[in-house]
Amino acid sequence: MRRRRDDGYHELETLFAFVADGDTVTLGGGEGFAVEGPFAGALAEEGDNLVTRAAAKFAETFGVDVAGRITLTKRLPVASGLGGGSADAAATLRLLARREGVAIDDPRLFDCADALGSDVPACLYSRTAIGRGRGERLEPVAGASGTPVLLVNPGVAVSTARVFGGWDRVDRGALGEGDLLNVARAGRNDLEPPALAVAPVIGEVLDLLAAQPGVTLARMSGSGATCFALFDTLAGRDAAAEAAGAGQPGWWCLKTVLL
Ligand code: C5P
Repeated sequence: MRRRRDDGYHELETLFAFVADGDTVTLGGGEGFAVEGPFAGALAEEGDNLVTRAAAKFAETFGVDVAGRITLTKRLPVASGLGGGSADAAATLRLLARREGVAIDDPRLFDCADALGSDVPACLYSRTAIGRGRGERLEPVAGASGTPVLLVNPGVAVSTARVFGGWDRVDRGALGEGDLLNVARAGRNDLEPPALAVAPVIGEVLDLLAAQPGVTLARMSGSGATCFALFDTLAGRDAAAEAAGAGQPGWWCLKTVLL
């Protein structure tokens, strides 16, 4: 985190990385929107969500009707700092662009993504990148494909705006240089302290992950409360998942790898 802006957003420097598992968005016959999957309930009550907003934005921008039924399979917890909603919105834009013959690098598609949320352009791009500005100014960087990842959420939803609002506004310096894992390890998540103030259980998750054999990095993702840990080996990751699951029935875990 670098600076609070007059428009209420924050200038930041962040690493966007993608994992092999998550939500899916499909476009089929029929019409309307459906949500299914283990976290469908949290979205079903809401009148709109980032997928329906993405479809509406696309239709308005490109002057087309969105024909077909969009189905979101929600496997990632909602409001969990993983950018799941942003990725769902970006996937919807990509699906509609492909069907309507809009190029993925069409600047109007980027503008749609940018209007939907700070992390949506990165998800549209969907490659390992440094994000600057609100997160929308993207610079590609080499990833660490195949690195085992464990995601753990302690079952609490935290408000992104509240966590950003709790940042102490101390600029602790720029992102370093070098390969992805070294940059990540030398860096920090400045949103951890304000998120911990809202949900102290995040500290338990971080302590548990950091103590696991073979862990190379344990940190909170985005504005939380989900934390991620990177491992040397799949076996190390799987053992850590067992440790996180044992005695913590309310904790959600996902074993995956970096793309
Ligand atoms: O852009 P998006 O709608 O995803 O942002 C959600 C909230 O997160 C914003 O209302 C703002 O409180 C906070 N935010 C921020 N600075 C950013 C990105 C998000 O303050 N760079």
